[in-house]
Amino acid sequence: WRPDDEDERPRRGMVGPVRVRVPAKVNLHLGVGPLRPDGYHELNTVYQAISIHDELTARRGDTLTLTMEGEGAGELALDETNLVIKAARALAAHAGVPAHARLHLRKQIPLAGGLAGGSADAAATLVACDALWGTDLSRDDLAGIAAGLGSDVPFLVYGGTALGTGHGETISPILARPVTWHWVVAIADGGLSTPAAYRELDRLRAEYAAPPPLRNADALLAALRGRDAARLGRALGNDLQAAALSLRPALAETLKAGEAAGALAGIVSGSGPTCVFLASDAGHAERVAAELTASGLCRTVRTAYGPVPGARVG
Ligand code: C5P
Repeated sequence: WRPDDEDERPRRGMVGPVRVRVPAKVNLHLGVGPLRPDGYHELNTVYQAISIHDELTARRGDTLTLTMEGEGAGELALDETNLVIKAARALAAHAGVPAHARLHLRKQIPLAGGLAGGSADAAATLVACDALWGTDLSRDDLAGIAAGLGSDVPFLVYGGTALGTGHGETISPILARPVTWHWVVAIADGGLSTPAAYRELDRLRAEYAAPPPLRNADALLAALRGRDAARLGRALGNDLQAAALSLRPALAETLKAGEAAGALAGIVSGSGPTCVFLASDAGHAERVAAELTASGLCRTVRTAYGPVPGARVG
């Protein structure tokens, strides 16, 4: 953090501004179980935080306000329905402090892209307001508040690579020897609604007699430990992919184009429509990205690496 005035540090909290960077996520494995009575599906997922970031700046204010620039500016409501505002209010209520802050969001993560952009912004808000207000909660406390905001929000408080269970909100970090994986991220025009993707999966599954069992992440975890990109490529899997392809058949072309461009493997990220491709190193990722860009099938193609830390001040 960088205070406006170096000498003016209040007894509690920061003068501000507090700047927090937060990453996007991909699901390396997304096993989806049956629909539960509470409207969520039981998940067995492996999250990885990747190097596409949003930035949230929190300043002192007399009320709670949100402004934004970048991806989705002008499309996203900035009122009480925004997950950023909900996150600030949830932290204030938990800590018993007034929800006073001027928040500004610089977005690079696309809206409704399957990269958890909205969840990332909520996680960034918790970390930023915790520093601004001096509430000084632990990561675990912040993740507890995050769980009430959305399934992916707790993961983005932690970042790295982690197992997600429950409806995705219960996080167990995966402590492996550090290795960097290289990704090509193909961003489509327009978003896909997460609830719609889950509903479509239920519809597709209703055509089969018995619901498929919840797939565990064992093969994926073994591939991560093996530090072998080709093996990781073979272990990538997403049960929501069939639903995303059913709602957006053109994504099949994107997946084919990525593999034709030499990617080790490609999958739909979360509920889509973003597709992510695994590359063997940074140079390979650049070459795959250049070919995918030339295919003209995607709005934007970016390279990224992971794992990276979750929401952090600085
Ligand atoms: O938790 P979040 O608000 O991101 O979830 C959005 C919607 O996605 C839920 O209301 C639900 O319809 C669907 N969902 C689900 N199972 C999950 C996570 C999300 O059905 N594990």
